[in-house]
Amino acid sequence: MSNHKYNIGSYEKRLQNFDWSISKQELSYKDGDNINIAWYCTDRICNMGKAKKTALIWEGLTGEEKRYTYNDIRLASNTIGTFLKGLNIKPEDRVCLFMDKIPELYLGFLGILKIGAIAQPLFSAFGDESLLIRLENAGTKAIITQKKHVSKVRKIIDRLPALKHIIIVDYDGKKPLQEREVSFSLETSTPVDKFDTYPTKAESPSVIHYTSGTTGQPKGVKHVHYSLISQYLTAKWTLDLQDDDIYWCTADPGWVTGTSYGIIAPWSLGVTQCVMDVGFSAEKWYEFIQKHRITKWYSAPTAIRSLMKAGDELVKKYDLSSLVHLTSVGEPLNSEAVIWSERVFGKPFYDTFWQTETGSIMIANYPGMKVKPGSMGKAFPGITATVVDPETFEPYKEPGKIGLIAFKPGWPSMMRTYWNNEETYKNKFKNGWYLSGDRSSIDNEGYFWFVGRDDDVINTAGHLVSPFEVESALLEHPAVAESAVVSKPDEVNMEVVKAFITLKPGYKPSADLELDIMNFIRKKLSPLAMPQAVEYVDSLPKTRSGKIMRRVLHAKEWGQDIGDISTLEND
Ligand code: PRX
Repeated sequence: MSNHKYNIGSYEKRLQNFDWSISKQELSYKDGDNINIAWYCTDRICNMGKAKKTALIWEGLTGEEKRYTYNDIRLASNTIGTFLKGLNIKPEDRVCLFMDKIPELYLGFLGILKIGAIAQPLFSAFGDESLLIRLENAGTKAIITQKKHVSKVRKIIDRLPALKHIIIVDYDGKKPLQEREVSFSLETSTPVDKFDTYPTKAESPSVIHYTSGTTGQPKGVKHVHYSLISQYLTAKWTLDLQDDDIYWCTADPGWVTGTSYGIIAPWSLGVTQCVMDVGFSAEKWYEFIQKHRITKWYSAPTAIRSLMKAGDELVKKYDLSSLVHLTSVGEPLNSEAVIWSERVFGKPFYDTFWQTETGSIMIANYPGMKVKPGSMGKAFPGITATVVDPETFEPYKEPGKIGLIAFKPGWPSMMRTYWNNEETYKNKFKNGWYLSGDRSSIDNEGYFWFVGRDDDVINTAGHLVSPFEVESALLEHPAVAESAVVSKPDEVNMEVVKAFITLKPGYKPSADLELDIMNFIRKKLSPLAMPQAVEYVDSLPKTRSGKIMRRVLHAKEWGQDIGDISTLEND
């Protein structure tokens, strides 16, 4: 569609005199007004005359389809909100969403926000240990889940005194409900038409997303309702969401892309979006695009690489001519993937960079802008982005130097703190800059070129895994004496988890034990955190003070220079 008019128009022109008031005006929001994301995503769109427009087309595992209009999602969020209020859930209470990508996940998110409570989405593949740590930290009061996941909650409930309600959305009455469990069915509840959305303000908390760091427990990133100002405009200009679009965001709302751009942005823009609750399959994905005539598609490099692997011939079997604009996030988008996409879809994937902490897109390739394959693009208007010297935290003046990606604080969707962890939050700021923890250079035209993370966090298939979390869980396995967890290169997932292990006396290395260890982590933490490789070693490289030197093992895995190991104890 060469005559397509992109929302952003000219990026260069948008940079001039940019002000977030553009977004506020379009949302008819004035500083000091009430602002509630869920109201903006439902009631406001209905008030604008789009009550009958399709908001959500959902497809399940067995191919069943459900459709919801904007009025349907307004009513559903009112109904869920009313139910939660009936359980005595109060503003700012944390309510966890622990579900597959079923409609209740999306509608429950809105219901929680409508009553002023805080939504805490967690990836449904998390095991009991991952769940426990995050519910404990947030002091979560209720969890909304499905039958298939409730056993994980039952396992840890004794250790969660603050958790008062376990809400099961598909209870079938076959087995009795247990302590603190309650059934809620959206389909059989009477829809609530009249509902007073809680009058949240700009700084009222909205969402907590957990993200992993190198050390310590996962951090709960706190966002506020004002984040809408960023999410709305970045989606409009970067993803190019327009009124007649059929949009597909492939991310799971257990992670930030799935909420910022899989719920908040498209619905605040009144766009029709599609969700598919099916694991990856190239055939299914192409079929989905063809069937629903998807126009705007936000996905991730691992998925794109998996599609590439499925081959060019497969693409030709489908009519994908509806596609207008493709975007990607979460990991480095290699230039091969951009070039491949241009060849097979007739348009490149446009890379975008941001984080759980930033709440919205910070650096991107914009529609109409020259794409340099392999580059993340340029800062969004209103965002001051740079790379700073890792010692002085001063921005580099010369192009091409590799430093830390840093942003000037103050954009609307910036995290407000790490939940119960103000100190770690404060440490993210140096010399007046927010440090992303990533390394990059900037070329002479202002394009950012990603180099890598500045810590040991593993980015596998676009999901961050903390080596510390995996190491701690490994120590609970009866055979494991010590462990060190690093990343290992992987063709499709970019990197995967690898564990180096020393065994306790009495245990011998074996393939069976390796499998047992892998499964142990899969169940306890998640399939993402599961080591794809386990290597038994007699000892781990340590500093003289006894700290395990992951970087030595990491360098070996990646075939890099090991660097200074003068402090190594057992070389
Ligand atoms: O390391 C960067 C990588 O993903 C991290 C953020 O992960 P998370 O908070 O889970 O949010 C993911 C989706 C917003 C970043 O610190 N990352 C994200 N986008 C890119 C990227 N790495 C390279 N290129 C990108 N476009």
